[in-house]
Amino acid sequence: MVYKKVETDLASIKPFRLVKFFTFTGLVVVFFCTLSLSWVISHYAKKVLLDRSDAYAMVMAENLNHQVFQQFVLPTILRYRKIALRNPKQYERLDAVVRNTIHGLNVQSVTIFDSQENVISYSTVKERIGRKDVGKSEYKKALLGEENSVFVTKGSLYNFFPGADPIFCRLTTYIPFRQEKMLSKSTDQIMGVIEIVQDLSTDLEAIVKFQGTIIVTSIVIMSTLFVALGIIVARADRIIEARARVRRRLEEKLNHAERLAGLGKMIATVSHEIKNPLGIVRSTAEILDKRMKRIAPENARLAEIIIEETSRLDGIVREFLDFARPQVPRLSKVAVGDVLKKIMGFMEPHFAKSHIEVETDLNATTPVIDADPDLLYRVYLNIIINAVQAMPDGGRLTVRCRPRGTGKGKIVTEISDTGTGMSPEVQEQIFTPFFTEKTRGTGLGLAIAENIIGSHNGTISVDSERGKGTTFRITLG
Ligand SMILES: Nc1ncnc2c1ncn2[C@@H]1O[C@H](COP(=O)(O)OP(=O)(O)O)[C@@H](O)[C@H]1O
Ligand SMILES: [Mg+2]
Repeated sequence: MVYKKVETDLASIKPFRLVKFFTFTGLVVVFFCTLSLSWVISHYAKKVLLDRSDAYAMVMAENLNHQVFQQFVLPTILRYRKIALRNPKQYERLDAVVRNTIHGLNVQSVTIFDSQENVISYSTVKERIGRKDVGKSEYKKALLGEENSVFVTKGSLYNFFPGADPIFCRLTTYIPFRQEKMLSKSTDQIMGVIEIVQDLSTDLEAIVKFQGTIIVTSIVIMSTLFVALGIIVARADRIIEARARVRRRLEEKLNHAERLAGLGKMIATVSHEIKNPLGIVRSTAEILDKRMKRIAPENARLAEIIIEETSRLDGIVREFLDFARPQVPRLSKVAVGDVLKKIMGFMEPHFAKSHIEVETDLNATTPVIDADPDLLYRVYLNIIINAVQAMPDGGRLTVRCRPRGTGKGKIVTEISDTGTGMSPEVQEQIFTPFFTEKTRGTGLGLAIAENIIGSHNGTISVDSERGKGTTFRITLG
């Protein structure tokens, strides 16, 4: 039994453990997928940004080469025969040409290196002019006719944390500065190197922000999903737990019923065996009583005791048999009010003896129902006797019987007393066979009552408070 219970519990818990596990692993997997996806996207975006900017720098450099050559180099050579940027007029002219060309474009600085020696002949950043050996390998490569660029970047999600350095991204392109022939054809003659610096920090910042947005959005969606799934799983767990509880209760009831069936059989056999000898003892005692009264009247009480005790035993045996035999009602038309009136009449002397006030409300218009009057009689009598026994110092007994609501043919009987009442623990057990709190009780009265009401498809319930009283409610029909 215990083993079976553990097994059913495990069976109900396992699938949801799995669901929880899958939910959690799913979340982790999706989170890492999102991380890698966002990384791939931003990586690709960075590459596109770089390629575009590189191509942009090339076009710009070509344009710059053309403008500087046509508008500065040629006119200057024609006028001064040679280029000498130390001459402020020449410098100003070159500066004007360069600035006009890059005007409105996304360029941080333009610098022109000399081809003869590694020195800066011109730069939009004035302080750099004249510096020597600033051009590194990129400068040398450009001198050999090879365009190339350097990408310096520092930017990740980390840079968004407070206190971290701002995102930084710079693309520096080196392009050979070539002489041009007429009709703007460029030649292989390299006069210098043009360095173009582009600041791409804002673009990179947008990409990293986008990456962050992807991650944050996915975390929000995942967490929402996780929470939703969690709630669903918790709810399902509760439902399954409740079902398991109901099943356990049903199993217990079934076991109980099985045990009772076995017990009933045994009781029926034993009671039956006792009944006959008991009858003989009783009739013998009656004969003895008569004789004793004649021969030895002083001892007649002894025979009376035997008779009294045998009748009590007979009552108990009958109750046992009632309990053990299945109660199959023989239905006929019954007015419940009449059954109750009969009992109240029969019990009147007991009420008077126990100082019990009686109040009845046996509605004459109660419908007639299909029931077994003998069995109902037994049920009500049992409950009323219990009520009387619960009021040893007197009290008030109320018996009410009326049709229930609008339900056709349903009858509710309420039997209330102002007796000892019961604690909730006792209330739970009163319908259990052999449960009794009385020294001379069998504990079968209410068990039999419940059986009988059950066989009539009715219900019996109790409402009680310790020290205040008890109400039994029976619905039939
Ligand atoms: N009206 C009542 N007031 C208080 N306790 C009651 C009442 N009816 C029943 N009980 C409790 O329920 C128990 C079981 O009742 P029952 O099945 O009739 O067996 P018995 O009367 O033989 O004890 C009683 O022993 C008593 O403790
Ligand atoms: Mg009883």
